[in-house]
Amino acid sequence: MKTNIKDILLKYPEGAQENLIPVLQDVQEVEGFLSKESVISVSNYLKMPASKIFGVATFYNQFRFAPLGKYHIQVCRGTACHVLGSLTVLQEVEKFIGVKSGSTSRDGLFSLEEVACMGACGLAPVISVNGNFHAKVTSESISEILENYRKQEQI
Ligand code: FES
Repeated sequence: MKTNIKDILLKYPEGAQENLIPVLQDVQEVEGFLSKESVISVSNYLKMPASKIFGVATFYNQFRFAPLGKYHIQVCRGTACHVLGSLTVLQEVEKFIGVKSGSTSRDGLFSLEEVACMGACGLAPVISVNGNFHAKVTSESISEILENYRKQEQI
């Protein structure tokens, strides 16, 4: 068991399955995602099957099962962005990086997450890449924006 995970688990009573969500949140905060190894550690400590933990964790959008990419893309799915086409934006991003929301591209370069209102509704639809906002994005501008990040890796 990794030291960090062990420290997290010891904050909670052994076998107290009602703490599953806070335990997973703590693990993800430390590791950045829920690794298979960590889920097994949680499973042993809370005395519940790992398959059940995966089942619960996949139900919640907040949990990730892979490390974030070098460039973490957040697509706003708040109301203003939705009305102005954020679903199409999301689909374009998924097409460009080759994975669905909640995942990381195979080359580890990009990860994608849908988020609620980012507080910049006047600039909708909005995406953020590592915290840098891109305003009024369109399905056409997505490729250009993401291609620029990809090019930075080839310099
Ligand atoms: S709804 Fe997207 S920034 Fe507010």
